[in-house]
Amino acid sequence: MQIQKNISLKKYNTFGIDVKAKYLAELSDESKITELISSLKENTDRYILGGGSNTLFTKDFDGIIIKNSIQGIKNIDEDENFVFIKSGAGVNWHKLVKYTIKNNYWGIENLSLIPGTVGAAPIQNIGAYGQELKKVFYKLKGFDLQKNEFKSFIFDKCKFGYRESIFKKEHKNKFLITSVTLKLSKKENLILTYQPVKDEIDRLKISKPSISQISEIICNIRRSKLPDPNKLGNAGSFFKNPEISEQQYLSLKNEFDDLKGFKNEFNNYKISAGWLIEKCGWKGKRTGDVASFEKQALVLVNYGNATGKDILYFAQNIKKSVKEKFDITLEEEINII
Ligand code: FAD
Ligand code: EPU
Repeated sequence: MQIQKNISLKKYNTFGIDVKAKYLAELSDESKITELISSLKENTDRYILGGGSNTLFTKDFDGIIIKNSIQGIKNIDEDENFVFIKSGAGVNWHKLVKYTIKNNYWGIENLSLIPGTVGAAPIQNIGAYGQELKKVFYKLKGFDLQKNEFKSFIFDKCKFGYRESIFKKEHKNKFLITSVTLKLSKKENLILTYQPVKDEIDRLKISKPSISQISEIICNIRRSKLPDPNKLGNAGSFFKNPEISEQQYLSLKNEFDDLKGFKNEFNNYKISAGWLIEKCGWKGKRTGDVASFEKQALVLVNYGNATGKDILYFAQNIKKSVKEKFDITLEEEINII
């Protein structure tokens, strides 16, 4: 396997940050993992990279970037109601979504147009518009970089939560996912819990939306408020939406009529980080080449020459404002390296 040296990572991350990696190996065949790992010195730092759409590089990386490019989408089993689809971890996520739409397999159409790879989807249990990966997850396979062995994980072992999994915690950077298997429905299964999706269906007067119409609606909503990383560097939401106590929620609601919150099973309320950031006056604000996006305050953008450190500094100032004004500590969603 070819290992490149002193390589710029600018085209490998959607923020467009120009840092260098000492080594970069592109892994397109799972059978080459053992060869790659055994060629590395034990203390070589490793970072597993998919599409780089949830990663902020803040400095040169003095180790090896393992860029996962394992391809392949295959139906491995089915019954009357469900189909099991195994995808290589390096497959582009939206390519997999398009495959399922073409075949009328329901379950990930609401996750249309999320950038990145299939292998990264379980890491933060990607979610959007009323759906989360965990709802269709069946199992995954990967390589334990500490024990040097292949292992499978079924749903119960993954500890999925809101933008969380075991792979973002205990197994962070220690387990290289090589394939993911999803269980999708062969029967119509509309997910219309997200109000703007419902509103759009009503506006278009569609009585029985098809799977491709749902996907199109989601893509249109996304395009209307999220920047296209091919045109403007970003990594989607920079922070998670915070969950606050009922007491704190009610006291904020008393002060701010327009605050929206969603109660969870522990009686806490998930509120919008974008709203908090906007209320602190950051929406659309720019310092040098870093800004909070004018249509979605939670998305930080790179107008061209921002460094990872510039973006991090900007984000820390946002965090400080939100803490001072609301006594809420925002938690980063993205992976900072
Ligand atoms: P990377 O940034 O390459 O990696 C992310 C993390 O996963 C890193 O910790 C990395 O080490 C790890 N990783 C990657 N591949 C593997 C692997 N094979 N094995 C083990 N670890 C691995 N996310 C959402 O959840 N919902 C959204 O609606 C959403 N919208 C977005 C919109 C935009 C415009 C952008 C730019 C991003 C958005 N995101 C969203 C965030 C991002 O697209 C997802 O988190 C995506 O899953 C990241 O995929 P990636 O391959 O680019 O990950
Ligand atoms: N809002 C504001 N100002 C803003 C942005 C949002 O007031 O600048 C308020 C509005 O009330 C709006 C509400 O927040 O109605 C929700 O906004 P939006 O629908 O854009 O969703 P979000 O909560 O900001 C989350 C995810 C997104 C996902 C969307 C759709 C997180 C951290 N982000 O954003 O995921 O696409 O919902 O489901 O949970 C990502 O993770 O990278 C990402 C983009």
